[in-house]
Amino acid sequence: MTETARTVTLAKRPEGVPGDDCFALEDRPLGDLAEGHVRVRVIWLSLDPYMRGRMNAGKSYSPPVEIGEAMGGQGVGEVIGSRAEGFAEGDIVTGMFGWVSHADAPAGEVRRLDPALAPVQTALGVLGMPGLTAWVGVHRILEAQAGETAVVSAATGAVGSVAGQLARRHGLRAVGVAGGPEKCAYAEEELGYDACLDHRAPDLRARLGEAAPDGVDGYFENVGGVTLEAVLPALNDHARIALCGVVAWYNGQGVADAMPLPAMWRTILVKRLRVQGFIIYDHFHRFPEFLAEVGPLVADGTLRYRESVTEGLENAPAAFRAMLEGGNFGKTLVRVGPDA
Ligand SMILES: NC(=O)c1ccc[n+]([C@@H]2O[C@H](COP(=O)([O-])OP(=O)(O)OC[C@H]3O[C@@H](n4cnc5c(N)ncnc54)[C@H](OP(=O)(O)O)[C@@H]3O)[C@@H](O)[C@H]2O)c1
Repeated sequence: MTETARTVTLAKRPEGVPGDDCFALEDRPLGDLAEGHVRVRVIWLSLDPYMRGRMNAGKSYSPPVEIGEAMGGQGVGEVIGSRAEGFAEGDIVTGMFGWVSHADAPAGEVRRLDPALAPVQTALGVLGMPGLTAWVGVHRILEAQAGETAVVSAATGAVGSVAGQLARRHGLRAVGVAGGPEKCAYAEEELGYDACLDHRAPDLRARLGEAAPDGVDGYFENVGGVTLEAVLPALNDHARIALCGVVAWYNGQGVADAMPLPAMWRTILVKRLRVQGFIIYDHFHRFPEFLAEVGPLVADGTLRYRESVTEGLENAPAAFRAMLEGGNFGKTLVRVGPDA
């Protein structure tokens, strides 16, 4: 059994975009496998925008990664050793293994996957945390009603691609916002958005007015930045904002030029908006309900998804940087090792 784990650690806290010098690649000993634990060979690592927040000092909704500590993250892998009842070598499991090639994990913190149901890496995307986030956001936070218009930003990403499709299935007019013509074409042609607007092209505000002629009733907010500033004027009175993320600001870019707080606050007042931030941790108990509804839609191909795969753990930092700036197209994954 393997005794070391290739590990990407946090070498330095980033200022702005996290450069290569913020990460270190090391081989770390695993030690003896403890009672009640499984040893996992990681196959897939999920890269998610929240990881950028954990690189900063100071608590957000999850604690910061300490300098020298392995970067955290969810993975999918194969059990290669087990001292836990109910787990055997060859099982495929998901858990918070981190940016590593191998990990020991308590059996209570891993979930076995059935490779016959869906490709195992979907447990990190459409059938995992991002899919659940989209489902909770559309159904519980936006309280979307058939016939209304919703806007989804980062419309082709891990969360947004599911949110847009669920909104459409629920009878809403769904307008996506994404970076570049290729993503916008995919959003309309494959994901079924009624329209998708490129946030990099000029006059986003005017184009949004045309794409949502009856105004916007719900905004699934993934990005902040200029997209938020374009959406605000289009919101109808009593519209809802499901505030899921503000990735445009995670590296600090555009923060100084953002719309002034008094203007924003006044808009919320005058339009009687309901803005609700939500963190998916509070909704994990709904996972079985989500899986029962969305699992069959993925299995029969009704719900589409796309993956942006980078080969090799050592390339995770570059893939992570790219994702934060729109270089991904679909769920961002690192292939750490071969299939079981
Ligand atoms: N609240 C929660 O519990 C929770 C859970 C999961 C995710 N989230 C949040 O949901 C959002 C999406 O996450 P994800 O995992 O699905 O990532 P993703 O959408 O797959 O990837 C991030 C995307 O953000 C977009 N983006 C980056 N900079 C931008 C900018 N300046 N303006 C507009 N768009 C920009 C890019 O899309 P384009 O190329 O289309 O611009 C990029 O592809 C993030 O804000 C994340 O933090 C929140």
